[in-house]
Amino acid sequence: MESILRINNIEVKYHEVILVLKGVSIEVPEGGIVALLGANGAGKSTTLKAVSGLLKHEDGEVTDGSIEFMGERIDKLEAEEIAKRGIFQIIEGRRVFEHLTVEENLMVGAHLRSSGKKERLEMVYHYFPRLKEVRNVLAGFVSGGEQQMTVIGRALMAQPKLMLLDEPSMGLAPLLIKEIFDIITRLNKEEKIPILLVEQNVKLALTVAPYAYVMETGRIVMDDTAEKLKENPDIRDFYLGLTDVGQRKSFRQVKHYKRRKRWLT
Ligand SMILES: Nc1ncnc2c1ncn2[C@@H]1O[C@H](COP(=O)(O)OP(=O)(O)OP(=O)(O)O)[C@@H](O)[C@H]1O
Ligand SMILES: [Mg+2]
Repeated sequence: MESILRINNIEVKYHEVILVLKGVSIEVPEGGIVALLGANGAGKSTTLKAVSGLLKHEDGEVTDGSIEFMGERIDKLEAEEIAKRGIFQIIEGRRVFEHLTVEENLMVGAHLRSSGKKERLEMVYHYFPRLKEVRNVLAGFVSGGEQQMTVIGRALMAQPKLMLLDEPSMGLAPLLIKEIFDIITRLNKEEKIPILLVEQNVKLALTVAPYAYVMETGRIVMDDTAEKLKENPDIRDFYLGLTDVGQRKSFRQVKHYKRRKRWLT
């Protein structure tokens, strides 16, 4: 299948000296969902920011390799221009505009559109009926789950051609996480929006994404189908917390093992 996004062996530095990505290659197929997994500090968010251009706001730079979106290079473009081409990143930690209502937050996402805002809003409410109920509430006062829905809905208003989701499950209760992931899956299937998903909840990620990459200290150390990764002993051990007989390992056991032998080295 054609790839809509190709990250080709990129290197990323912050402040011209801190080398964080050391040759990362990832492809997202047309209409696909791809997961990017890895421990804290591995470089997952940095990878997404390299694609969306947000890196530049943090004095970061793609210093080697290239990023192609729909066949064109985007790694030197400004974030605004990348957004105009249809790439939207949902950053970690649910940044809503707290003093605007939920609906005003959604409308901010439509600022690049010249027409069809009403229809688009109805479409967002179709996927997130909860947001319709709280449309007139200040976003700072709705629940964490509703804030997460608001930021996803805001990106949706812009009719994205690619969505980059950074840990959408963070800090949410299990039922809400399921609700949000069901919606993400539907957006991909029904609206055909390709998604690059960063997620700490590996079990969940491998349920929604048929293909995943595993990152460690700025490098991709493994990539395979979700099926294969779920069977991989290292993934089971470190990320799913399961032994080969499928029993839950205690956190202490896994941590101990981690100290002895670093992940996949
Ligand atoms: N603006 C920045 N300036 C300097 N170093 C940074 C900056 N942002 C991130 N880093 C460093 O880059 C590395 C990768 O960070 P990044 O946020 O991409 O990791 P991550 O995989 O998303 O981690 P987490 O799971 O904790 O979100 C870390 O060592 C981090 O300290
Ligand atoms: Mg991160």
